[in-house]
Amino acid sequence: MLKGRHLLDPMDFSIQETYEVLKLGKEISNNPEKFTHLCDGKILATLFYEPSTRTRFSFEAAMLRLGGSVIGFSEPSSSSVAKGESIADTIRTVACYADIVAMRHPKEGSARVASLYSEVPVINAGDGGHQHPTQTLTDLLTINCVKGDLSNKVIGVCGDLKFGRTVHSLIKAMSRYENNKFILISPKELSVPDYITKEILTKNNIEFLEVEKIDDVIGQLDILYMTRVQRERFFNEEEYLRLKDSYILDAAKMKNAKEDMMILHPLPRVNEIAYEVDVDPRACYFKQAKYGMYVRMALILKLLGVK
Ligand code: NCD
Repeated sequence: MLKGRHLLDPMDFSIQETYEVLKLGKEISNNPEKFTHLCDGKILATLFYEPSTRTRFSFEAAMLRLGGSVIGFSEPSSSSVAKGESIADTIRTVACYADIVAMRHPKEGSARVASLYSEVPVINAGDGGHQHPTQTLTDLLTINCVKGDLSNKVIGVCGDLKFGRTVHSLIKAMSRYENNKFILISPKELSVPDYITKEILTKNNIEFLEVEKIDDVIGQLDILYMTRVQRERFFNEEEYLRLKDSYILDAAKMKNAKEDMMILHPLPRVNEIAYEVDVDPRACYFKQAKYGMYVRMALILKLLGVK
């Protein structure tokens, strides 16, 4: 039963619960008109303390397409946050007005704090460099729709694996399906945090490899998940400038990839995928953005317990 629950981490939902959200997301994507009034009279609050295009818009579009309404801020300086209000007090107040809350914040663990004080479901829309579970639902729905299932995949994850919260959530989630293998492609400075390699991969006997060059491994991949170097999380701008163009996927590199390898990217892209790749049928990142809205429609329905 997902009604009334929070979603802070991809592991908060069991495999079965995740499957139910994905199944509904797929159903919605095939027939969105059937769902237009299910949230009439309901309100979603979007509290975004960090910039966003896809996540906030797709949450808002999701609620609007379900017939509900949206309140919130995309700029904390326009709310009482600017006066020094705590997350606890903001969420206690917002929960009086809204039926469900999606929140993005630069500090790791902030959505969890919010959930402790909220009377209504809190969805983590990204907490610092930590987790981004609804991007993962988006990724899973896209993989499932394009590839037909979530098992037996060689998944290359490339770019900023240290600060990339989408990567952390994706590895956690995909590690639960049978026989998935990971190839982690990053400069040494941006490799995945230890807790991912130790607590998620090694502990569960999941095969993985850490490499620095994409060309050496691209031919083995079923999925290539590209990510942006997360400038805002660096302590040192010079370090960012040195690492920002570590990987640029272009048409020449794609020649060595499998015919049916899918390219995913949570977006925004900076330089890591050349525009020429967009016309390659294997490029799925804009399709992925669309699935993000459908899966958020499904998630809202489940957490609100709407049948
Ligand atoms: C990602 C994020 O915010 O973590 N974007 C998104 O939600 N689609 C990835 C990023 O910002 O690089």
